[in-house]
Amino acid sequence: MSPKKQIAVIPGDGIGKEVIPQAVRVLEAVRADLAFTHFDWGADRYLADKTTVPPDGFAMLARDFDAILVGAFGDPRVPSNIHAKEILLGMRFKMDLYANVRPVRLMDASLCPLKGVEPKDVDFVVIRENTEGVYGDLGGVFKQGTPDEIAIQEDINTRKGVERILRYAFEYCAVHKKLDGSPRRRVLLCDKSNAMTHAGGLWQRVFKEVGGEYQQLEKQHMYVDALGMQMICDPRVFDVIVTNNMFGDIITDLAAGLQGGLGMAASGNLHPGKTSMFEPVHGSAPPISGKNIANPFGAILTAAMMLVHLGMIASAEKIETAVLEAVCQKKTTADVGGSLGTREAGEWVANLVSRG
Ligand code: NAD
Ligand code: IPM
Ligand code: MN
Repeated sequence: MSPKKQIAVIPGDGIGKEVIPQAVRVLEAVRADLAFTHFDWGADRYLADKTTVPPDGFAMLARDFDAILVGAFGDPRVPSNIHAKEILLGMRFKMDLYANVRPVRLMDASLCPLKGVEPKDVDFVVIRENTEGVYGDLGGVFKQGTPDEIAIQEDINTRKGVERILRYAFEYCAVHKKLDGSPRRRVLLCDKSNAMTHAGGLWQRVFKEVGGEYQQLEKQHMYVDALGMQMICDPRVFDVIVTNNMFGDIITDLAAGLQGGLGMAASGNLHPGKTSMFEPVHGSAPPISGKNIANPFGAILTAAMMLVHLGMIASAEKIETAVLEAVCQKKTTADVGGSLGTREAGEWVANLVSRG
């Protein structure tokens, strides 16, 4: 028998602490061969002893775990958000998890705010560069607090970083099919190369060059502003979207709107061959936290993504099918039309997978 896969669980703050226990409960119900170790990294720990990430924390995660399941970080008691930056961006940057994969899937027509859009019309993925761009924290302020203040936030785009995320997007098509079983075959570069000519120029050149190696795939381009419009007019046009860190952040919240809101959106932070991290797209949602009303399905679908990454495909499919069933039967939280609480929605899905 193969040894259990070791999973680090970091619920974090706010609704992260409510939705991650439901994801873990569903993983237990599906009887996946996993062992969980829980970590208290987040605002409470930071406020108690000023620890964000313990010494050697990232090396420990990379060494001792097969995957990391994360909730969200952000707490009004830590206005600087320093812990979120050090823990979340720390994992992405220091563990070099360069591909942020965010699938966009509509489970039921009733969840989409667009007229006449059905599940088959919303089935695309955003592949977001996750280690560079404006998130690199390069810059500074000059003459702070004076009328002459200057703030500089640099946008880092390296040849290596751009090439590997573009390649990841092209390669993604070889291994992932659409939900109807047809192959993914269109890769769309989303940028703002008409205004950000230096960075955009690099992305454009490398897209053309690397894309040339994938003759069987269709290559497309949209400026991010036009893409935003297209997403709410006709999401059918999208298959695989690849983009930089900031645009990827923005368009995946927009895309979550097509799926029924942030409560339904899953994501993975990956580097093939390294310990990868999985988290729902949403944040800690302070206004709704502690009320048992947050939707746990984004976190549960994130757990399923983690299982796919670990090669436990059958268990992942069971979970996805159970969430789909819950959505269709309205056994959900209120944001997607049901009347269950966070725990009760998680329990319903867990019961279904444990019977399957
Ligand atoms: P948010 O995602 O927390 O909330 C945005 C909106 O979506 C709110 O109306 C919220 O109620 C709703 N929402 C989010 N998740 C939901 C769920 N599971 N069920 C039902 N409704 C849900 O974004 P925000 O308000 O911009 O940020 C709040 C905090 O979270 C901030 O500190 C932010 O920095 C942080 N944040 C963290 C992450 C992360 O850790 N990955 C991601 C985004 C935001
Ligand atoms: C996300 C979040 C983060 C990001 C924040 C919390 C820094 O919005 O994961 O989408 O911008 O990447
Ligand atoms: Mn975001």
